[in-house]
Amino acid sequence: MWTTAIEDAVTKTRSNMKRFGQLYPHVSKNDVYSLNDNNAWTSSFWSGMLWLCYEYTKDADFLHAARYTTESFRDRLAQKKALNNHDIGFLYSLSSKAHWIVEKDESAKQLTIAAADLLLTRWRPKSRIIQAWGSEGDEENGGRIIIDCLMNLPLLYWAGETTGDRRYSDAAAEHAEKSRRFLVRGDDSSYHTFYFDQETGDAIRGGTHQGYADGSTWTRGQAWGIYGFALSYRYTRDPLYLETSLRMARYFLERLPEDNVVYWDFDAPVSAETKRDSSASAITACGLLELLEHIPADHPERTFLEDGIQRSMKGLVRHYATIGKPDAQGVLERGSYSVRGGASPDDYVIWGDYYYLEALMRLKQGHKGYW
Ligand code: GLY
Repeated sequence: MWTTAIEDAVTKTRSNMKRFGQLYPHVSKNDVYSLNDNNAWTSSFWSGMLWLCYEYTKDADFLHAARYTTESFRDRLAQKKALNNHDIGFLYSLSSKAHWIVEKDESAKQLTIAAADLLLTRWRPKSRIIQAWGSEGDEENGGRIIIDCLMNLPLLYWAGETTGDRRYSDAAAEHAEKSRRFLVRGDDSSYHTFYFDQETGDAIRGGTHQGYADGSTWTRGQAWGIYGFALSYRYTRDPLYLETSLRMARYFLERLPEDNVVYWDFDAPVSAETKRDSSASAITACGLLELLEHIPADHPERTFLEDGIQRSMKGLVRHYATIGKPDAQGVLERGSYSVRGGASPDDYVIWGDYYYLEALMRLKQGHKGYW
């Protein structure tokens, strides 16, 4: 099943290389991907897919296309184009860092360190957070963290390890700890965002931007937490992060619907109209696979996690993948970008396609991701 799914994704990515040219897919409308210049938070998921396809096939077309994206990300950093946000971690982990991992290309490595430098400028020493959105001092966003940022931290941990400069990893670890304390609630559910006083760092309140309600659990946010804390454990070896990832995973898996692919928010009322977010299930599958790398073979919940991966991935492959639809542009149907913001109908979302393929490559080939 996994081989068929990977090969279908590779075939579609090959067609998309011709279709997209030098543009980057974002989300779809009426089954057609919207294409942007390299200027969105999502641009690197396309690079990541190209690198995964190259690693699977060793086909030079994928390699050339993937290398090209590194140059495009070099220009983007030089121009600081749409980089006034924490998404620098997503953007440079799957582009130049993937390039470095796959080819040991020195200039890709240097570009990745330069991206980490820019991300580090978002560290706010008074509130002791990495500011997610907007400029320093911004009234709404100045003291705000969001759970998605956990996926941006690996860029800093990696830069710390690579350069020996602890400023990167110290900021990442402090941000992870603040996220653990304030974004994860006592019942293992999560806030999407949390506000702190910009001057004193005092905690103010949790809230949401993309979830159903301030106190609800946006499924993609929970997924970012599961994977993000597992990655914080990979780099820091702090057992609290492993435990937090595991707790959040339990919460997620205990709430899977009948077909094992989650709706967009665990607290949204469910009817025939309720949107799914297949990308949340794909991200979670990657997070669970990362968790399995770190827990002992005889861990009492290992079987529960393995079963959760099988349920999630079989649910995606059987009911949401576009296998058998050769003209489809996307690989995974029914992702939701922002139901609350009215951005749906979405269907294909490029990060859903990416994490689905990463999970498949982990399952089939023991791939470790580029984080
Ligand atoms: N990181 C943005 C999102 O998950 O929608």
